[in-house]
Amino acid sequence: MNPDIKTIAVIGAGTMGRGIAYAAAFGGYTTVLEDISPQMLEESTRWITKSFDEGVARGKVDAKIRNRASSLITTASSVQDAIRDAELIIEAVPEEMEMKMELFTIFDKFAKPHAIFASNTSSLSISDMSDLTVCRERCIGMHFFNPVPKMKLIELVKTPFTSQNTVDACIKVGHRMGKEVVLVQESPGFITTRVNALIGNEAFAMLEAGIASAEDIDKALKLGLNHPMGPFELVDLVGLDVRLNILEYLHQTLGEKYRPNRLLKEYVQEGRLGRKSGRGVYDYSEGETASRKT
Ligand SMILES: NC(=O)c1ccc[n+]([C@@H]2O[C@H](COP(=O)([O-])OP(=O)(O)OC[C@H]3O[C@@H](n4cnc5c(N)ncnc54)[C@H](O)[C@@H]3O)[C@@H](O)[C@H]2O)c1
Repeated sequence: MNPDIKTIAVIGAGTMGRGIAYAAAFGGYTTVLEDISPQMLEESTRWITKSFDEGVARGKVDAKIRNRASSLITTASSVQDAIRDAELIIEAVPEEMEMKMELFTIFDKFAKPHAIFASNTSSLSISDMSDLTVCRERCIGMHFFNPVPKMKLIELVKTPFTSQNTVDACIKVGHRMGKEVVLVQESPGFITTRVNALIGNEAFAMLEAGIASAEDIDKALKLGLNHPMGPFELVDLVGLDVRLNILEYLHQTLGEKYRPNRLLKEYVQEGRLGRKSGRGVYDYSEGETASRKT
């Protein structure tokens, strides 16, 4: 039986971890955020304060909730300290299986009895991650979306070992965070990463074949299919290297349909990684607002 969740520990305070800590405090949970880098931890607390203030300014967050949430967040300088009082631990460290497995082993040793261990992985196997822990029924995927304060969805990933109690506890947490929750049986890429990888790969195949320009492919999906962003705008934001890694993993696990497109691979080899490198499908060398040259 899982205990009532009062305290949530978030491990990794990067793009996602800080957003998850925001959502946890927003939901009224005592929240402890930890990162291996003290600088990231400092940056993330500034980001969380700014995000709450912006929410209040835009009329999306009540000032009382912002004040309460701010008082609920603390930081910790080690994983052991961060997880000591937590009933739910969510890891958001980089997408590397070994790193995540090592953390799950630490959780297993030092967390409270009955605490739930969740991973925010975009595609990796939660079963593999929890292989070395003794409490596989309390391990689950909680896949949040970027930027967390604005994105409404959490994909809950249930392994063959995850208990219904664990699923129910995480659904409750998701709702208190103000999110909608979908449940998916563990499978590479879950729902969203798998579909999105295929759409993105197909867009590259069309660009490579000269069927349409990148601008027109983006425009078609936005205006014709009501996607908020075009596939190339999105991959430039996510990172072409990140997308290629995901496709390689899906290709290995799910088969031929997911073979990464040649043009995508070429761009990555040339260092065209997206906004973060100044050039992806589009060129950002003249500033943040994309110059639309491809
Ligand atoms: N960025 C996205 O859009 C996105 C969306 C959904 C899920 N994810 C997943 O979320 C996870 C994190 O991604 P991100 O984009 O936030 O990464 P990130 O690189 O922005 O942040 C990772 C953080 O983890 C810290 N870290 C590294 N090793 C650590 C350790 N052992 N203990 C504590 N902290 C450690 C790093 O210092 C860094 O601040 C990945 O699994 C990724 O696949 C990312």
